[in-house]
Amino acid sequence: MSQTPKRLFIKTYGCQMNVYDSDRMVDALTPHGYSQTNDMGEADLILLNTCHIREKASEKVFSELGRLKQLREDRAEQGKTTMIGVAGCVAQAEGDEIIARAPVVDLVFGPQSYHRLPQLVKQASEARVIDTDFPEEDKFTQLPAPTKKATIARGLTAFLTVQEGCDKFCSFCVVPYTRGNEVSRPVAQIVTEAKGLAEAGVREITLLGQNVNAYHGLDDAGKDTGLGALLVELAKIKGLDRLRYTTSHPNDMDDALIATHRDLPQLMPYLHLPVQSGSDKILKSMNRKHTRASYIAVIENIRLHRPGIAISGDFIVGFPGETEEDFCDTLSLIEHVGYASAYSFKYSPRPGTPGALMQDQVEAKVADERLQRLQALIKKQQAEFNQQCAGKTMDVLLEKPGRLPGQLAGRSPYLQAVHVDADPGLIGSIVSIRVKSIGPNSLYGELL
Ligand code: SAH
Ligand code: SF4
Ligand code: F3S
Repeated sequence: MSQTPKRLFIKTYGCQMNVYDSDRMVDALTPHGYSQTNDMGEADLILLNTCHIREKASEKVFSELGRLKQLREDRAEQGKTTMIGVAGCVAQAEGDEIIARAPVVDLVFGPQSYHRLPQLVKQASEARVIDTDFPEEDKFTQLPAPTKKATIARGLTAFLTVQEGCDKFCSFCVVPYTRGNEVSRPVAQIVTEAKGLAEAGVREITLLGQNVNAYHGLDDAGKDTGLGALLVELAKIKGLDRLRYTTSHPNDMDDALIATHRDLPQLMPYLHLPVQSGSDKILKSMNRKHTRASYIAVIENIRLHRPGIAISGDFIVGFPGETEEDFCDTLSLIEHVGYASAYSFKYSPRPGTPGALMQDQVEAKVADERLQRLQALIKKQQAEFNQQCAGKTMDVLLEKPGRLPGQLAGRSPYLQAVHVDADPGLIGSIVSIRVKSIGPNSLYGELL
């Protein structure tokens, strides 16, 4: 590949793992003369890092590719070439279809090929390339670390993927197919990456994995290490004041991990623990491998170890066979648990998953109505959670200028957005504040 300076534009869809991956793709191309631009029109290479989780997410890719065709033609008139690549989960799941349906695409590659990106780009300048294998080699050992400059530019909080893939095969979900089997990175590799981030000023790391709490990486002695023990190691790193992890499965909340919620002050009191449904019948046909009661038991155990912890979740409404009674079981579970926030989705049948073949698909109209009811309840709980913070003291990591002049914005331990009147010199500090008032989407605090 030539070293002449080139511009790279990446558009990221989907989950935080894609956000992390997009940065790693930039890091992989930086040594080859590419620098990132936010202006698509000036990019020599455009990458779409895609998501396949729901139908709408996938469709976005094809409509974006339609727009890119025009952009490429406009640039060609100015004598410029534009290479277009599709990465991520749609690439993995529908690579051949993309090549067939979208002649504008030069390059299709799946999440396990990102370390090969410089090579793939070079090949694609000669002929269209598709690379959706699950390679033997570990991409993480081959992906270059970000430069200190790049890490600083990315801010005070960072994602760090520790685990990829999923072996659980919930019957609605494409992730096991798009990301492959569960693979955990070795402890030392993660610690080195975390230290690099901390040295560049990162103060908060969120560990990522499609099933992050199923993490079982090897330590230097070759011993299997769980997420709890990994967190204990990471908590020793100087300057790393805050740790989080996402997304977890209820069955993998083991005792060692739950104990870290009590023992590690760096581990923030916030846990995203998706449940999807409150009906045992639906949980069973979703192949979730847990029950309503076992989920509640896990939450109770965590609350015992870390009173006041904020719980968030994911819910799917309108899964095949969901009756009004099943749905009411979900609402009653939500009432019982009390969420600080949650994501909820209308079930989307995905090609290749068992759910798509099930009888009793729920009518769209019914699912829409259920989604609205569920979201109204979550919104009420979120407002209640925020309201009970009024007058309380909490630590905020100040990350950037706020909406109004003289304000800074950051996050509470519970992941709430917080605005504080404070001097810009305090960006990067963790300050103690008192919550003065509660807005619809954020808290307002005063420095103590
Ligand atoms: N690994 C995570 C979830 C990954 S997908 C976990 O196990 O919890 C993120 C969320 O998308 C899921 O929790 C689920 O609520 C939702 N989701 C996944 N597949 C879906 C589908 N086919 N239709 C609607 N929502 C879906
Ligand atoms: Fe998908 Fe289930 Fe795996 Fe989560 S645990 S990624 S929902 S298959
Ligand atoms: Fe989407 Fe793939 Fe993440 S399907 S949610 S980008 S793992």
